[in-house]
Amino acid sequence: MNRFFLILCSFFFAVLMLNSCYYDVEEELYYEIEEELYQDVLENIADCDTLMVQYTLNILPIIDQHCFPCHSLETAFANVVVEPYNGLKNYVDNGELLCVLNHQSGCSPMPKNAAKLTDCELAKIEKWIDDGAQNN
Ligand code: HEC
Repeated sequence: MNRFFLILCSFFFAVLMLNSCYYDVEEELYYEIEEELYQDVLENIADCDTLMVQYTLNILPIIDQHCFPCHSLETAFANVVVEPYNGLKNYVDNGELLCVLNHQSGCSPMPKNAAKLTDCELAKIEKWIDDGAQNN
């Protein structure tokens, strides 16, 4: 009887130990995932600030670098001119800017024969448009 009781006790004890061990691993895992998410958020804030997006400060440099080689007043490939502000605004209003930048169907993907703009550049342009695509 005594021995049986002992075996029963050790069995429960073993189950208890296993259980707590399992929870430890789980908690550790959650902690790591949380920390990763936190790092992502921090990196995002550091690398891609979309809080205050202005035409002159943030949008013009992107368009200058990626689009002016073919769509400035001088180059005007395919008669598309995305300067000055009004030139670009036309393509915002008719939806073509986001269409070409996001490589949607129904328009030519831009910049032509080059990589898509980075997520951060696209996020800034989208934020600027969401804010009313102002000439600021
Ligand atoms: C290497 C030259 C080149 C660059 C760089 C370039 N484009 Fe184009 N783009 C063209 C050509 C050529 C066309 C005419 C359509 C075609 O051939 O695909 C065009 C067409 C367009 C059109 C008309 C839409 C359509 O479907 O034809 C828009 C809008 C446009 N480009 C915007 C942009 C923007 C915005 C950028 C910068 C992110 C850009 N392009 C960069 C060459 C370029």
